[in-house]
Amino acid sequence: MARPILLIAFISIAFLSCNSKKDIEHSSIDSTYYQEKYRPAYHFTPEKNWMNDPNGLVFYEGEYHLFYQHNPYGNVWGHMSWGHAVSPDLLHWKKLPLALEEYIDKATGDSTMIFSGTVVVDKNNSSGFCTNGACMIAIYTSHVHKNNEAVVQHQSLAYSNDKGRTWNRYDKNPILNIQRKDFRDPKVFWYEPEQKWVMVLVVPDLFTVQFYESKNLTEWKMTGSFNKIGDTTRIWECPDLYELPIENLNEKRWVLSLSGGHPQGPAFVGMQYFVGTFDGKTFKADDAHQKPLYVNYGKDFYAGIVFNNLPKEDNRTVMIGWINNWTYANTLPTHPWRSAMSIPHELSLQKTSDGLRLAQKPAKEMAALRDSALTNLADIKERSLEIELAMILNDAKEVGIKISQGTTEETILSYNRESGLLFLDRTHSGLVDFHKEFASVEIITINK
Ligand code: FRU
Repeated sequence: MARPILLIAFISIAFLSCNSKKDIEHSSIDSTYYQEKYRPAYHFTPEKNWMNDPNGLVFYEGEYHLFYQHNPYGNVWGHMSWGHAVSPDLLHWKKLPLALEEYIDKATGDSTMIFSGTVVVDKNNSSGFCTNGACMIAIYTSHVHKNNEAVVQHQSLAYSNDKGRTWNRYDKNPILNIQRKDFRDPKVFWYEPEQKWVMVLVVPDLFTVQFYESKNLTEWKMTGSFNKIGDTTRIWECPDLYELPIENLNEKRWVLSLSGGHPQGPAFVGMQYFVGTFDGKTFKADDAHQKPLYVNYGKDFYAGIVFNNLPKEDNRTVMIGWINNWTYANTLPTHPWRSAMSIPHELSLQKTSDGLRLAQKPAKEMAALRDSALTNLADIKERSLEIELAMILNDAKEVGIKISQGTTEETILSYNRESGLLFLDRTHSGLVDFHKEFASVEIITINK
């Protein structure tokens, strides 16, 4: 039974409002799926089988597209292909057939998995692949392997002239090949000042981000690289580069984010970012001696990328990440699906005494899911809640709230005034013994 219970021993509540939210209908998914144990209501999950990174996030003709790393045959990583879903509002997702599938090259017998990548809208048919003026272009990593041994990773292109429903692989792939076994995760975006496409991707084992430019999406020229700073405890994957506004200032800065190390050390993977400048050729961090900056301090946020081609008038940058950690991802006790996406995050920069820092908040659309506000804790029966909590500490050293408390289960969110630390204790959050690294107390400094 999921209901928030207060740690009355050390809490005083000024105001608490819990808004129950209507279930998100994944329109193609049978509503009985919401009865499945652990099936989330707000987070996108594949109907069945394995999912990892979000890919090709793009808005086009009234639809948000979410492609994702998917194993169509099983509940663990393998046979990587691109799953696909669309949404009119970033909340309600409709499942579509596989966009790009693993295949075997008839000539060489090599098998090719479709690894992570990007989708752009080619508005002026710069590629020559659009039959009606504009079309969608996917650029992804082909992971070529023989008998499960990687042969090479290079970048390939596919195009769609029917709003992403069907895709053709370019017959002259690959479009970028440096003959390495690890070279992946292209993100492409339109760089307005120079009217050209820019690609960022990684050489994971060299902790290097490379930058390329192109006028037609098929021919690419290297323009720069970025490496040797930040967290290099785990290989670098899934880079992204975007310009963000600085809150309350009429200024902008570029952010390079990527997946790799984690604040809790090399046992886990997470996301880091750098703040700096991009001159159309390469990215330069403002402070090359900066300690690593992390996108998220919890264990479950990886491979996040931002949407391409969002409506200009919305004036925002929206990221979706994979809420999982490679350390235990393949063992999560869910069935018949495994893994979920984060809710969409709106990103900005905030000026702090330590420098510019990434700020995130739920996309504004999430507010549409609010139902009636519940202020009396005894009334709360819902399993999915948005909790807004303000706490007056008075003399208390520590305050907190227990969420999803049952006879043997609870998840505790608490704050310690002396240390200025916020704790999320999930050591008793239901079924946690499937992997020794899952149950933990996550800690973040919120006040120094
Ligand atoms: C990141 C990643 C990517 C790769 C994909 C394969 O989670 O390892 O680097 O393209 O997953 O599924």
